[in-house]
Amino acid sequence: MTILFNHQLIDRSQARIDIEDRGYQFGDGVYEVIRVYEGKTFCLPEHVERLQRSAREIGLKLPYDGQRLEELLLQLLHANRIHNGTIYLQASRGVAPRSHPFPKKPQAVIVAYTNEAERPYASLNNGIGAVITEDIRWLRCDIKSLNLLGAVLAKQYAAENGCEEAILHRDGRVTEGSSTNVFRVKDGTLYTHPANHLILHGINRAVTLELAQELQIPVKEESFTTDALFQSDEIFVTSTTMEISPVITVNGRKVGDGKPGKVTRQLQQAFEKRI
Ligand SMILES: Cc1ncc(COP(=O)(O)O)c(C=O)c1O
Repeated sequence: MTILFNHQLIDRSQARIDIEDRGYQFGDGVYEVIRVYEGKTFCLPEHVERLQRSAREIGLKLPYDGQRLEELLLQLLHANRIHNGTIYLQASRGVAPRSHPFPKKPQAVIVAYTNEAERPYASLNNGIGAVITEDIRWLRCDIKSLNLLGAVLAKQYAAENGCEEAILHRDGRVTEGSSTNVFRVKDGTLYTHPANHLILHGINRAVTLELAQELQIPVKEESFTTDALFQSDEIFVTSTTMEISPVITVNGRKVGDGKPGKVTRQLQQAFEKRI
C-alpha cells in the first residue's frame, strides 16, 4: 500500500515513525478522516480547511498549503485505486527530545493512508443502539486532536454494552457522540448542539443542516438534556464514516417506535443524492 509520508508517496513498509514523534508521545497533532465514494472524495476542501484550522488552533505549522495537500491526497487515492473507503491523514508536531513545550524548530510529520471500506449499510438501514455516558473530554473539542482517550473510553463503554455509539453529556446536556454529532427530532423540529468549543464541527453535521434547510425541516442549534433525548421522536448521529445513522435505542430504551424515523429517512435520501 502506498502512503503519503511528509512530501512523498512511498510504500508503507518503508515508513518509519520516530519513537520521539510528539504525535506518538503526547498526541500532539491533528487529523482528518475523508470519505471516498466511487473513487471520488467527498467534501475534501472542507476537510482540508478544518485540518488547517485545527493546526492553527494548536500553533502547528503545516509544511504545505491547502491546495498542495489536496493534490497530494488525490495522488495517494489514485495510487491505491480506492473505490469506496476513507483517507486518514494526520499531522504531528514532529520529532524532538521528549519535553512538553514546543520544540524550537518543529517540523510537522505528515502521514496519510487509505482504507477500502464499504458504506455502513446495516447501521444506515436498521439503525444502531447507543448508551449515554459522561463527557470527560477537554474543553476544545472543536479541535480534531490526536488525543482521543476520552473518545476511546466512551466507545469502549458502548461496545461493552452491545452498542455502536456512546452519546456524551456534560452536566446532563448532550454534547455529541464519541465519534459522531447527535441530532434529535421532536414534533418535526431538528435539534443539535451548537458548533462551539464543546463539539467537533462535523462536516456531515454541516451537510445535514444544509439538507434540512433544503427540505424545509425546522432546525434549532440548541443543546438539549438527556431527559429530552429520551422524549425524542427520532434520534440520529452523523459522521464521515457513519453518514446519517438512525439511533433506535438509548440505554436499551426504544426511540419512538424503535424504528428509523421519517425525518431521518428523508435526510438519508437527500444525503444519498448529494454523494
Ligand atoms: C467527536 C466527533 N464528533 C463528530 C464527528 C463527526 O465529524 P465528521 O462529520 O466531520 O466526520 C467526529 C468524527 O470523527 C468526531 O470524532
